[in-house]
Amino acid sequence: MKYLIEPNDLSVKEIDELIMLANDIIKDPSRYQDVCKHKILATLFFEPSTRTRLSFESAMLSLGGSVLGFSSASNSSTSKGESVTDTIWTVSCYSDIIAMRHPKEGAPLVALRRSKVPLINAGDGGHNHPTQTLTDLLTIQREKGSFENLTIGFCGDLKFGRTVHSLLKALSRYKNTKFVFISPKELMIPEYLKKDLLERENLNYVEVERMEDVIGDLDILYMTRVQRERFFNEQDYIRLKDYYILDEDKMKLASKDMIVMHPLPRVNEISTKVDDDPRAKYFDQVQNGRYIRMALILTMLGLDKEVERL
Ligand code: NCD
Repeated sequence: MKYLIEPNDLSVKEIDELIMLANDIIKDPSRYQDVCKHKILATLFFEPSTRTRLSFESAMLSLGGSVLGFSSASNSSTSKGESVTDTIWTVSCYSDIIAMRHPKEGAPLVALRRSKVPLINAGDGGHNHPTQTLTDLLTIQREKGSFENLTIGFCGDLKFGRTVHSLLKALSRYKNTKFVFISPKELMIPEYLKKDLLERENLNYVEVERMEDVIGDLDILYMTRVQRERFFNEQDYIRLKDYYILDEDKMKLASKDMIVMHPLPRVNEISTKVDDDPRAKYFDQVQNGRYIRMALILTMLGLDKEVERL
């Protein structure tokens, strides 16, 4: 596997294999602690991150490998005017695998042309975030057992939220998924996803504005923050940022089996009072993110068969 730019670069079978490997790692991670010895992961983050960058680094360190990189464009030659392609070309001479995040949609695809090593998109603008999708899929598989026959509600900033776009693409390949999009009018799912995916594939979806009207029907509620950095106008952000706040009262309307997911960071959209509800799974997602990235690194380096499965 030479690259992961968008979630459907992976076949359904490849996703199943990654999830199986992650579940095997979870059983006893110490068996994998030396598999990537002498391998180097570069994390190139042209845009801020806590979880994605640190979980990649934690994953590589847990496999016995090493990491190098930068966590802000201002610390790199980008600030001197270097192109992203030249930066990746350079770093691919120093590393065995690269994870990059960039504010511009499509930047990882451009960079891929010059990378001499496997390249992972760790988020490009409002476009894709395939490793968050793998994290989400591992969480869904562990909580729900399958990706079929699920009703999933996406709530919040569906316009700019790349984790929503990527997870939607991935889940669209499974049987009998129902999508419920909960957003204010200004933050509805982009037209291109409606035309090229939801309508073309004849998927089952509805768009609503009030969470209370639909929360009782959901198997999964996927909350998102309003993406301040992608707004052109601060006034619009302020008007929309607290549009949805999931609290204990709204959780009373949900089924006892519904799970709450969030890619994090959370701002205000989930009250901390919900955190101790057994249905809140957003910090399980964080934990799963480390294991699925271990599985991904192993697979992309061709080291996924090194340890006997339990
Ligand atoms: C998300 C992202 O960067 O797109 N965070 C993450 O990677 N877990 C979500 C967000 O920033 O809102």
